[in-house]
Amino acid sequence: MKFNLSEITELIQYRRTIYPEFFSSRKVHKEQIELLLENARWAPTHKLTQPWFYKVFMEDGLQTFSDFFSETYKQLTPEDKFSEMKYQKMKSRVAKSSAIIVACMKRDEAERVPLVEELAAVNAATQNLLLTATAYGIGVYWGTGGVTYKNEMKDFLGLKPADQVLGVLFVGYPEGEWPRKTPRKPLEYYTEWVES
Ligand SMILES: Cc1cc2nc3c(=O)[nH]c(=O)nc-3n(C[C@H](O)[C@H](O)[C@H](O)COP(=O)(O)O)c2cc1C
Repeated sequence: MKFNLSEITELIQYRRTIYPEFFSSRKVHKEQIELLLENARWAPTHKLTQPWFYKVFMEDGLQTFSDFFSETYKQLTPEDKFSEMKYQKMKSRVAKSSAIIVACMKRDEAERVPLVEELAAVNAATQNLLLTATAYGIGVYWGTGGVTYKNEMKDFLGLKPADQVLGVLFVGYPEGEWPRKTPRKPLEYYTEWVES
């Protein structure tokens, strides 16, 4: 066997969402983030369109992201729906992170493959990134919803209308115990075998 399957299986099953509330003050280095991104690009990509794009906010860039993220939530939310708690949480989650990586799909200009395939490729790339983080002991929270899918976010990131934001990845070292496994349905629930 070329690779150690039991280690790879353990790594895949060990990956967990780590919320920034559980990040410690230990900083993730830029070189580590680079390896996460380096491994991302080895995902499969139909016609080699390589539609992934990651915008990384670190150091002072974190404040730039935080200001945009929380203030845009404030601007876009009607007064009666606005939650001060959510607004503060958006700020504190960024503040607790060593880096924010925004996972994006940049649409191939010739649209050589269907949209669903481009989204699939980026999500596969992001899983590579998550598994590399797990190998380092680095935690990631993949957040979506709210501001993430708004056009303001695309403008902020310099994306075109056909591009898409697929998630905001909050990156940091967890404090204390790595969380327990979240439940998954067993194999027979999500597979069907045809053998004759
Ligand atoms: C596309 C995508 C979007 C997600 N968005 C959110 C989110 O907005 N808020 C959240 O709490 N978790 C979000 N998650 C993380 C899931 O809640 C998490 O993966 C799930 O609870 C399983 O836990 P695990 O990642 O530790 O296995 C998202 C995950 C994916 C794949």
